[in-house]
Amino acid sequence: MEIRSIKWQDTLTIRHKVLWPDKPMSFCHVDGDAQAQHFGVFLDKRLVCVASIYKDNREARLRKFATLACYQGQGIGTKLIKHIIEQLKSDGIKRFWCDARVSAQGFYEALGLEKYNDEFNKSGIAYCKMQIRF
Ligand SMILES: CC(C)(COP(=O)(O)OP(=O)(O)OC[C@H]1O[C@@H](n2cnc3c(N)ncnc32)[C@H](O)[C@@H]1OP(=O)(O)O)[C@@H](O)C(=O)NCCC(=O)NCCS
Repeated sequence: MEIRSIKWQDTLTIRHKVLWPDKPMSFCHVDGDAQAQHFGVFLDKRLVCVASIYKDNREARLRKFATLACYQGQGIGTKLIKHIIEQLKSDGIKRFWCDARVSAQGFYEALGLEKYNDEFNKSGIAYCKMQIRF
């Protein structure tokens, strides 16, 4: 397993397949992608998991985190987020947060993030805000 920086354009196929298969590909490109940091997990040279980090001063937001369906539940996402958290800490980031799909809340709790607001809806999906402070 290898974790590498990738270009935002390389995240689009997995974002689309896993997160928004019913939307056009253009929906998977978000403002700030050109300035953000994008990470990919490769297994035998195949990109199987992506996550993007958007920084604002000492805060970092996770967006568009997804593992290809046939690779989910194997610990890949956990390894990627742990890697990202270590990098953010050494970069001086003080707060790591995301709008989490409620379906993934348990995943983030296992990594130490806590829910800090009520649930809300975006494009028909239930979300909550989650964060961890360093
Ligand atoms: C959420 C996601 C990125 C995690 O990646 P992953 O590679 O499957 O993560 P892991 O295999 O490291 O999962 C670790 C643990 O979390 C659990 N887990 C994974 N997805 C979960 C979810 N949606 N809700 C609760 N637990 C989850 C796994 O079963 C595993 O538990 P275990 O250690 O007891 O076996 C991936 O499941 C995914 O792409 N889901 C669909 C898209 C999505 O919801 N993205 C997040 C948007 S906020």
